[in-house]
Amino acid sequence: MITQRSNIAAIPSYRPGKSTVDGWAGPVYKLSSNENPYPPLPSVLEAIARAASHIERYPNMAAPELTLAIAARQGVLPEQIAFGGGSVESAAQLIRAFAGDGDEVIFAWRSFEAYPLLVSGAGATPVQVPLTADHRHDLDAMLAAITERTRVIFICTPNNPTGTVVRHDELHAFLAQVPDDILVVIDEAYVHFTNDPEAERGIELFHEFENVAVLHTFSKAYGMAGLRLGYAIVRDDVHEGLRKVAMPFALTDIAQAAGVASLAAEDELQERVDVLITERDRVRASLAAAGWKSPDSQANFVWLPAGDMTDALNTHLANLGLIVRPFTGHGIRVSIGEPAANDAFLTALESAPRY
Ligand SMILES: Cc1ncc(COP(=O)(O)O)c(C=O)c1O
Repeated sequence: MITQRSNIAAIPSYRPGKSTVDGWAGPVYKLSSNENPYPPLPSVLEAIARAASHIERYPNMAAPELTLAIAARQGVLPEQIAFGGGSVESAAQLIRAFAGDGDEVIFAWRSFEAYPLLVSGAGATPVQVPLTADHRHDLDAMLAAITERTRVIFICTPNNPTGTVVRHDELHAFLAQVPDDILVVIDEAYVHFTNDPEAERGIELFHEFENVAVLHTFSKAYGMAGLRLGYAIVRDDVHEGLRKVAMPFALTDIAQAAGVASLAAEDELQERVDVLITERDRVRASLAAAGWKSPDSQANFVWLPAGDMTDALNTHLANLGLIVRPFTGHGIRVSIGEPAANDAFLTALESAPRY
Protein backbone atom coordinates (compact mmCIF):
# COMPACT_ATOMS: atom_id res chain seq x y z
CA MET A 1 0.00 0.00 0.00
CA ILE A 2 1.40 3.37 -1.00
CA THR A 3 0.72 5.96 1.70
CA GLN A 4 -0.53 9.42 0.75
CA ARG A 5 1.04 12.48 2.38
CA SER A 6 -1.00 13.15 5.53
CA ASN A 7 -2.41 16.48 4.25
CA ILE A 8 -3.54 14.74 1.03
CA ALA A 9 -5.06 11.75 2.89
CA ALA A 10 -7.20 14.21 4.89
CA ILE A 11 -8.77 15.67 1.72
CA PRO A 12 -12.17 14.09 0.93
CA SER A 13 -12.20 12.27 -2.43
CA TYR A 14 -13.78 14.17 -5.31
CA ARG A 15 -17.24 12.92 -6.32
CA PRO A 16 -18.11 13.85 -9.92
CA GLY A 17 -21.60 15.27 -10.51
CA LYS A 18 -24.24 13.14 -12.24
CA SER A 19 -25.47 13.83 -15.76
CA THR A 20 -28.29 11.28 -16.03
CA VAL A 21 -31.40 10.63 -13.93
CA ASP A 22 -32.59 7.04 -13.36
CA GLY A 23 -36.28 6.41 -13.96
CA TRP A 24 -37.12 9.78 -15.54
CA ALA A 25 -38.22 9.80 -19.17
CA GLY A 26 -38.64 13.56 -19.59
CA PRO A 27 -35.99 16.16 -20.47
CA VAL A 28 -32.95 16.27 -18.20
CA TYR A 29 -31.42 19.66 -17.35
CA LYS A 30 -27.88 19.84 -15.98
CA LEU A 31 -27.88 22.83 -13.68
CA SER A 32 -25.04 21.71 -11.43
CA SER A 33 -21.82 23.35 -12.69
CA ASN A 34 -22.69 26.99 -13.47
CA GLU A 35 -21.98 26.44 -17.14
CA ASN A 36 -23.24 28.66 -19.92
CA PRO A 37 -26.13 26.69 -21.50
CA TYR A 38 -25.58 28.09 -25.00
CA PRO A 39 -23.38 26.41 -27.66
CA PRO A 40 -20.16 28.07 -28.87
CA LEU A 41 -20.47 30.85 -31.47
CA PRO A 42 -19.65 29.81 -35.07
CA SER A 43 -16.72 32.28 -35.14
CA VAL A 44 -15.25 30.64 -32.04
CA LEU A 45 -15.68 27.15 -33.51
CA GLU A 46 -13.91 28.30 -36.70
CA ALA A 47 -10.97 29.62 -34.68
CA ILE A 48 -10.81 26.30 -32.81
CA ALA A 49 -10.78 24.36 -36.09
CA ARG A 50 -7.95 26.52 -37.46
CA ALA A 51 -5.86 26.08 -34.32
CA ALA A 52 -6.54 22.33 -34.32
CA SER A 53 -4.64 22.00 -37.60
CA HIS A 54 -1.27 22.27 -35.83
CA ILE A 55 -1.72 20.21 -32.68
CA GLU A 56 1.42 18.21 -33.50
CA ARG A 57 3.28 21.21 -32.02
CA TYR A 58 3.43 22.32 -28.38
CA PRO A 59 1.44 25.48 -27.70
CA ASN A 60 3.03 28.91 -27.60
CA MET A 61 3.35 29.47 -23.85
CA ALA A 62 3.65 33.23 -24.29
CA ALA A 63 0.11 33.44 -25.74
CA PRO A 64 0.99 36.78 -27.41
CA GLU A 65 -2.25 37.53 -29.26
CA LEU A 66 -4.49 36.59 -26.34
CA THR A 67 -2.35 38.53 -23.88
CA LEU A 68 -2.65 41.72 -25.94
CA ALA A 69 -6.40 41.25 -26.41
CA ILE A 70 -7.00 40.80 -22.66
CA ALA A 71 -4.68 43.67 -21.72
CA ALA A 72 -6.60 46.00 -24.03
CA ARG A 73 -9.95 44.71 -22.74
CA GLN A 74 -9.07 45.05 -19.03
CA GLY A 75 -6.87 48.15 -19.14
CA VAL A 76 -3.82 46.39 -17.67
CA LEU A 77 -0.30 45.82 -18.98
CA PRO A 78 0.39 42.64 -20.98
CA GLU A 79 3.00 41.59 -18.41
CA GLN A 80 0.33 41.73 -15.69
CA ILE A 81 -1.55 38.74 -17.16
CA ALA A 82 -0.68 35.20 -16.03
CA PHE A 83 -2.59 32.30 -17.63
CA GLY A 84 -3.87 29.06 -16.21
CA GLY A 85 -5.68 26.04 -17.65
CA GLY A 86 -8.91 27.45 -16.18
CA SER A 87 -8.87 30.00 -13.37
CA VAL A 88 -8.86 27.12 -10.89
CA GLU A 89 -5.33 26.44 -12.14
CA SER A 90 -4.50 30.12 -11.68
CA ALA A 91 -5.79 29.86 -8.09
CA ALA A 92 -3.65 26.74 -7.58
CA GLN A 93 -0.58 28.55 -8.93
CA LEU A 94 -1.15 31.49 -6.56
CA ILE A 95 -1.45 29.17 -3.57
CA ARG A 96 1.51 26.97 -4.58
CA ALA A 97 3.74 30.00 -5.13
CA PHE A 98 2.87 31.87 -1.96
CA ALA A 99 1.66 29.42 0.72
CA GLY A 100 3.14 26.14 1.95
CA ASP A 101 3.86 24.23 5.14
CA GLY A 102 3.00 26.29 8.21
CA ASP A 103 1.25 29.03 6.22
CA GLU A 104 -2.42 29.94 6.36
CA VAL A 105 -4.85 30.85 3.59
CA ILE A 106 -8.07 32.60 4.60
CA PHE A 107 -11.34 32.38 2.67
CA ALA A 108 -15.04 32.64 3.43
CA TRP A 109 -17.06 29.49 3.96
CA ARG A 110 -19.08 28.30 2.33
CA SER A 111 -17.35 29.37 -0.87
CA PHE A 112 -15.76 27.79 -3.95
CA GLU A 113 -15.28 24.08 -3.22
CA ALA A 114 -11.78 24.01 -4.69
CA TYR A 115 -10.22 26.45 -2.20
CA PRO A 116 -9.77 24.02 0.73
CA LEU A 117 -8.53 21.28 -1.61
CA LEU A 118 -5.96 23.54 -3.28
CA VAL A 119 -4.73 24.93 0.03
CA SER A 120 -4.42 21.53 1.69
CA GLY A 121 -2.80 20.10 -1.43
CA ALA A 122 -0.10 22.78 -1.20
CA GLY A 123 0.55 21.77 2.43
CA ALA A 124 -0.84 25.05 3.83
CA THR A 125 -3.71 25.39 6.32
CA PRO A 126 -7.17 26.49 5.14
CA VAL A 127 -8.77 29.06 7.48
CA GLN A 128 -12.50 29.10 6.76
CA VAL A 129 -14.40 32.15 8.01
CA PRO A 130 -18.19 31.55 8.15
CA LEU A 131 -20.42 33.73 6.00
CA THR A 132 -22.81 36.10 7.77
CA ALA A 133 -26.39 34.98 8.45
CA ASP A 134 -27.39 36.63 5.17
CA HIS A 135 -24.83 34.52 3.23
CA ARG A 136 -22.29 37.33 2.64
CA HIS A 137 -18.55 37.58 3.31
CA ASP A 138 -17.89 38.60 6.92
CA LEU A 139 -14.99 40.93 6.20
CA ASP A 140 -14.53 41.95 9.86
CA ALA A 141 -14.20 38.32 10.88
CA MET A 142 -11.80 37.72 7.99
CA LEU A 143 -9.63 40.61 9.20
CA ALA A 144 -9.73 39.18 12.72
CA ALA A 145 -8.58 35.79 11.35
CA ILE A 146 -5.29 37.23 10.04
CA THR A 147 -2.21 35.96 11.89
CA GLU A 148 1.50 36.25 11.24
CA ARG A 149 1.17 32.99 9.27
CA THR A 150 -1.42 34.34 6.82
CA ARG A 151 -0.03 34.47 3.29
CA VAL A 152 -3.09 34.64 1.01
CA ILE A 153 -6.75 35.69 1.35
CA PHE A 154 -9.39 34.74 -1.22
CA ILE A 155 -12.45 36.95 -1.75
CA CYS A 156 -14.95 35.22 -4.03
CA THR A 157 -17.43 37.75 -5.42
CA PRO A 158 -20.06 36.96 -6.54
CA ASN A 159 -19.60 34.12 -4.07
CA ASN A 160 -20.00 30.53 -5.23
CA PRO A 161 -22.45 29.06 -4.13
CA THR A 162 -24.46 31.88 -2.50
CA GLY A 163 -24.29 34.43 -5.36
CA THR A 164 -23.80 37.35 -2.96
CA VAL A 165 -21.38 40.18 -3.78
CA VAL A 166 -18.91 42.12 -1.70
CA ARG A 167 -19.55 45.86 -2.08
CA HIS A 168 -16.79 48.03 -3.53
CA ASP A 169 -16.64 50.39 -0.54
CA GLU A 170 -16.46 47.59 2.03
CA LEU A 171 -13.76 45.73 0.11
CA HIS A 172 -11.79 48.96 -0.24
CA ALA A 173 -11.96 49.52 3.52
CA PHE A 174 -10.95 45.87 4.09
CA LEU A 175 -7.94 46.12 1.80
CA ALA A 176 -6.78 49.28 3.54
CA GLN A 177 -6.46 47.19 6.74
CA VAL A 178 -4.80 44.05 5.34
CA PRO A 179 -0.99 44.06 5.76
CA ASP A 180 0.59 44.58 2.34
CA ASP A 181 2.69 41.40 2.50
CA ILE A 182 -0.51 39.31 2.32
CA LEU A 183 -1.78 38.59 -1.18
CA VAL A 184 -5.51 39.25 -1.57
CA VAL A 185 -7.01 37.34 -4.50
CA ILE A 186 -10.35 38.65 -5.78
CA ASP A 187 -11.96 35.74 -7.61
CA GLU A 188 -14.33 37.29 -10.16
CA ALA A 189 -15.33 34.11 -12.02
CA TYR A 190 -18.95 35.34 -12.18
CA VAL A 191 -18.42 39.10 -12.40
CA HIS A 192 -19.96 39.39 -15.89
CA PHE A 193 -23.37 38.46 -14.46
CA THR A 194 -23.38 41.25 -11.87
CA ASN A 195 -25.78 44.17 -12.31
CA ASP A 196 -25.48 45.62 -8.80
CA PRO A 197 -23.85 49.07 -9.16
CA GLU A 198 -22.41 48.80 -5.64
CA ALA A 199 -20.56 45.54 -6.36
CA GLU A 200 -16.78 45.62 -6.12
CA ARG A 201 -14.68 46.44 -9.18
CA GLY A 202 -11.61 44.23 -8.82
CA ILE A 203 -9.45 45.79 -11.52
CA GLU A 204 -9.81 49.23 -9.93
CA LEU A 205 -8.69 47.73 -6.64
CA PHE A 206 -5.79 45.99 -8.41
CA HIS A 207 -4.62 49.39 -9.68
CA GLU A 208 -4.91 50.91 -6.21
CA PHE A 209 -3.51 48.18 -3.90
CA GLU A 210 -0.15 46.54 -4.60
CA ASN A 211 -1.10 43.25 -2.91
CA VAL A 212 -4.25 42.55 -4.96
CA ALA A 213 -4.61 39.90 -7.67
CA VAL A 214 -7.78 39.35 -9.72
CA LEU A 215 -8.93 36.03 -11.20
CA HIS A 216 -11.00 35.82 -14.38
CA THR A 217 -12.22 32.90 -16.45
CA PHE A 218 -13.52 32.17 -19.94
CA SER A 219 -15.56 29.24 -18.56
CA LYS A 220 -18.73 31.03 -17.51
CA ALA A 221 -19.82 34.17 -19.40
CA TYR A 222 -17.72 33.22 -22.45
CA GLY A 223 -19.07 29.66 -22.48
CA MET A 224 -15.69 27.91 -22.71
CA ALA A 225 -15.74 25.64 -19.63
CA GLY A 226 -14.64 22.66 -21.71
CA LEU A 227 -11.52 24.36 -23.10
CA ARG A 228 -9.89 25.46 -19.81
CA LEU A 229 -8.81 29.08 -20.06
CA GLY A 230 -8.43 31.42 -17.10
CA TYR A 231 -6.00 34.08 -15.95
CA ALA A 232 -4.76 36.10 -13.02
CA ILE A 233 -4.09 39.83 -13.18
CA VAL A 234 -1.02 40.32 -11.03
CA ARG A 235 1.99 42.54 -10.43
CA ASP A 236 5.59 41.68 -11.42
CA ASP A 237 6.62 40.14 -8.09
CA VAL A 238 3.60 37.83 -8.10
CA HIS A 239 3.96 37.01 -11.80
CA GLU A 240 7.52 35.87 -11.27
CA GLY A 241 6.34 33.38 -8.65
CA LEU A 242 3.53 32.11 -10.87
CA ARG A 243 5.86 31.46 -13.81
CA LYS A 244 7.87 29.11 -11.59
CA VAL A 245 4.92 26.95 -10.56
CA ALA A 246 2.74 27.06 -13.70
CA MET A 247 2.17 23.71 -15.40
CA PRO A 248 4.17 23.95 -18.65
CA PHE A 249 1.95 23.97 -21.77
CA ALA A 250 -1.30 23.77 -19.76
CA LEU A 251 -2.81 26.49 -21.95
CA THR A 252 -3.32 25.06 -25.43
CA ASP A 253 -3.16 27.01 -28.70
CA ILE A 254 -6.78 25.94 -29.25
CA ALA A 255 -7.89 27.61 -26.01
CA GLN A 256 -5.83 30.69 -26.88
CA ALA A 257 -7.44 30.97 -30.33
CA ALA A 258 -10.91 30.48 -28.87
CA GLY A 259 -10.19 33.17 -26.29
CA VAL A 260 -9.10 35.67 -28.94
CA ALA A 261 -12.18 34.87 -31.06
CA SER A 262 -14.44 35.23 -27.99
CA LEU A 263 -13.06 38.65 -27.15
CA ALA A 264 -13.61 39.68 -30.78
CA ALA A 265 -17.23 38.51 -30.50
CA GLU A 266 -17.94 40.06 -27.11
CA ASP A 267 -21.02 41.96 -28.26
CA GLU A 268 -22.62 38.73 -29.47
CA LEU A 269 -21.65 36.92 -26.26
CA GLN A 270 -22.96 39.81 -24.18
CA GLU A 271 -26.44 39.26 -25.65
CA ARG A 272 -26.40 35.75 -24.16
CA VAL A 273 -25.09 37.01 -20.84
CA ASP A 274 -27.89 39.58 -20.81
CA VAL A 275 -30.44 36.79 -21.37
CA LEU A 276 -28.93 34.84 -18.47
CA ILE A 277 -29.06 37.91 -16.22
CA THR A 278 -32.71 38.49 -17.15
CA GLU A 279 -33.44 34.83 -16.48
CA ARG A 280 -31.59 34.95 -13.15
CA ASP A 281 -33.64 37.96 -12.07
CA ARG A 282 -36.84 36.23 -13.24
CA VAL A 283 -35.99 33.08 -11.25
CA ARG A 284 -35.16 35.15 -8.18
CA ALA A 285 -38.43 37.07 -8.43
CA SER A 286 -40.40 33.81 -8.78
CA LEU A 287 -38.62 32.28 -5.79
CA ALA A 288 -39.42 35.34 -3.69
CA ALA A 289 -43.05 35.40 -4.84
CA ALA A 290 -43.43 31.73 -3.87
CA GLY A 291 -41.89 32.36 -0.45
CA TRP A 292 -38.58 30.50 -0.99
CA LYS A 293 -35.71 32.01 0.98
CA SER A 294 -32.78 32.68 -1.36
CA PRO A 295 -30.10 35.38 -1.15
CA ASP A 296 -29.84 38.11 -3.78
CA SER A 297 -27.71 36.31 -6.40
CA GLN A 298 -25.56 38.36 -8.74
CA ALA A 299 -24.19 35.26 -10.51
CA ASN A 300 -25.52 32.71 -13.01
CA PHE A 301 -26.95 30.53 -10.24
CA VAL A 302 -29.21 30.77 -7.20
CA TRP A 303 -28.70 29.37 -3.72
CA LEU A 304 -31.40 27.56 -1.77
CA PRO A 305 -30.28 27.46 1.88
CA ALA A 306 -32.28 24.30 2.55
CA GLY A 307 -30.28 23.14 5.60
CA ASP A 308 -31.56 19.77 6.84
CA MET A 309 -33.98 19.59 3.92
CA THR A 310 -31.18 19.67 1.33
CA ASP A 311 -31.11 15.96 0.49
CA ALA A 312 -34.92 15.66 0.34
CA LEU A 313 -35.18 18.68 -1.95
CA ASN A 314 -32.34 17.41 -4.12
CA THR A 315 -34.05 14.01 -4.52
CA HIS A 316 -37.31 15.72 -5.45
CA LEU A 317 -35.60 17.84 -8.13
CA ALA A 318 -33.56 14.89 -9.46
CA ASN A 319 -36.72 12.79 -9.80
CA LEU A 320 -38.06 15.50 -12.11
CA GLY A 321 -34.95 15.56 -14.32
CA LEU A 322 -33.14 18.45 -12.63
CA ILE A 323 -29.49 17.85 -11.83
CA VAL A 324 -28.44 20.49 -9.31
CA ARG A 325 -25.56 20.84 -6.83
CA PRO A 326 -26.46 19.80 -3.27
CA PHE A 327 -24.23 20.44 -0.24
CA THR A 328 -25.72 18.11 2.35
CA GLY A 329 -26.87 19.92 5.49
CA HIS A 330 -26.33 23.34 3.89
CA GLY A 331 -28.20 23.97 0.67
CA ILE A 332 -28.53 23.57 -3.07
CA ARG A 333 -26.97 25.62 -5.84
CA VAL A 334 -28.99 25.75 -9.04
CA SER A 335 -27.38 27.13 -12.20
CA ILE A 336 -29.41 29.41 -14.45
CA GLY A 337 -30.00 27.62 -17.73
CA GLU A 338 -32.00 28.32 -20.85
CA PRO A 339 -35.60 29.50 -20.18
CA ALA A 340 -37.07 25.96 -20.52
CA ALA A 341 -34.67 24.65 -17.87
CA ASN A 342 -35.50 27.49 -15.50
CA ASP A 343 -39.22 26.92 -16.05
CA ALA A 344 -38.76 23.23 -15.27
CA PHE A 345 -36.95 24.16 -12.04
CA LEU A 346 -39.65 26.64 -10.96
CA THR A 347 -42.41 24.14 -11.79
CA ALA A 348 -40.64 21.39 -9.83
CA LEU A 349 -40.47 23.67 -6.80
CA GLU A 350 -44.27 23.95 -6.76
CA SER A 351 -44.48 20.38 -5.45
CA ALA A 352 -41.21 20.38 -3.49
CA PRO A 353 -40.72 19.84 0.24
CA ARG A 354 -40.16 23.23 1.91
CA TYR A 355 -37.25 24.31 4.09
C1 LIG B 1 -15.55 31.01 -7.81
C2 LIG B 1 -14.91 30.19 -8.87
N1 LIG B 1 -13.65 30.46 -9.20
C3 LIG B 1 -13.03 29.76 -10.15
C4 LIG B 1 -13.66 28.74 -10.81
C5 LIG B 1 -12.87 27.97 -11.81
O1 LIG B 1 -13.33 28.05 -13.08
P1 LIG B 1 -12.43 27.59 -14.29
O2 LIG B 1 -11.31 26.77 -13.75
O3 LIG B 1 -13.33 26.82 -15.17
O4 LIG B 1 -11.91 28.84 -14.91
C6 LIG B 1 -14.98 28.42 -10.50
C7 LIG B 1 -15.66 27.30 -11.18
O5 LIG B 1 -16.71 26.87 -10.87
C8 LIG B 1 -15.61 29.17 -9.49
O6 LIG B 1 -16.86 28.89 -9.11
